[in-house]
Amino acid sequence: MAQMEVGVLGATGTVGQQFVRLLDQHPWFKLTWLAGSERSEGKRYADAAPWRLSTPIPTESADKIVQAPVPGQGPKLVFSALDAAVAGELEAAFAAAGHIVVSNARNYRMEADVPLLVPEVNPEHLGLVPLQSTRGWKGSIVTNPNCSTVFLAMALAPLRQFNLRQVMVTTLQAVSGAGYPGVPSLDILGNVVPFIGGEEEKIESETKRILGSLRSENGKNAVVPHGVTISAQTTRVPVIDGHTESISVSIDQGVTIEDVKQALMTFRGRPQDQRLPSAPCHPIVYLPEQNRPQPRLDVDRGNGMTVTIGRLRPCSVLGYKFIALGHNTVRGAAGAALLNAELMQSEGVL
Ligand SMILES: NC(=O)c1ccc[n+]([C@@H]2O[C@H](COP(=O)([O-])OP(=O)(O)OC[C@H]3O[C@@H](n4cnc5c(N)ncnc54)[C@H](OP(=O)(O)O)[C@@H]3O)[C@@H](O)[C@H]2O)c1
Repeated sequence: MAQMEVGVLGATGTVGQQFVRLLDQHPWFKLTWLAGSERSEGKRYADAAPWRLSTPIPTESADKIVQAPVPGQGPKLVFSALDAAVAGELEAAFAAAGHIVVSNARNYRMEADVPLLVPEVNPEHLGLVPLQSTRGWKGSIVTNPNCSTVFLAMALAPLRQFNLRQVMVTTLQAVSGAGYPGVPSLDILGNVVPFIGGEEEKIESETKRILGSLRSENGKNAVVPHGVTISAQTTRVPVIDGHTESISVSIDQGVTIEDVKQALMTFRGRPQDQRLPSAPCHPIVYLPEQNRPQPRLDVDRGNGMTVTIGRLRPCSVLGYKFIALGHNTVRGAAGAALLNAELMQSEGVL
């Protein structure tokens, strides 16, 4: 298969850098176009991007000149790691000009005609894409969820079969989730910040949409959100990469701890069936050790695409509780978008 050219909007940021890393040597996609703000435009990528990853900047990208984000320029498929303050207008302009925008930003996630995808959980939501033609766009927008939402949705998807009713989740989120330079060191070192603006609302609404079903009403596709009630509390902690989530769930009585564990451990989806390049063999790994998962030890499992779960035990309030961990800039952002694009390619949507 010939490689398809792709570009990245917001290539210089925290998520943009993960795109550049993950697209280096990708078997299906060739990264040929990097775009940034006026601050970076015209500079070598290596000079414009404050590279913060532990692997070196891929040599093919280091010398590329950062372009202005002009719709119509750049390849048909563009990944977006744009700041939400500018993503709304820019992504729409790119979609109108015929680009397929695979976005991380929050701006279009809850729009009725835009898929909010986790490929293992709701690949059928891609059926919303044709509705976007009524916007007059020649292209389209497909989104991935907020980083904490991805891990929660993946942990809950295997439990839908047990009549999932109520969920309480408390997150411990890494500083890389706030972009670069992000939270000042004096605010986060030796500290926990018990507020992340807009995050709790996103987790609650996006998760229900992802777990929801695609229905056809009067010949028009629509997502009916899942009926689960979710209450989220979010905190920022002094961890570099990896969001940890403490999750309690209410499911049918009579479902044993072994049933829940089996459901988590055997969870698979279309990316695994279709052997998509970025798909981990195991989207969820369950660890039996009492003191796992931990960000430092487990965040890179499955190249950062696996959600690691542990400490499943009874909860005297809701039924069962457990801990989940995921890599926020990989499975929670750039890796999620890449898997979305791979799914779209294999389903013939690109
Ligand atoms: N960090 C995470 O874990 C995470 C997870 C999920 C989703 N997200 C979402 O992903 C997006 C990027 O997040 P981030 O953490 O990578 O943020 P970031 O480090 O602040 O990077 C923002 C990017 O947007 C570009 N940008 C800003 N203003 C622009 C403009 N006017 N025109 C063109 N480009 C502009 C910046 O370019 P310059 O550097 O050239 O100024 C930079 O490349 C956000 O929407 C965020 O909510 C982030």
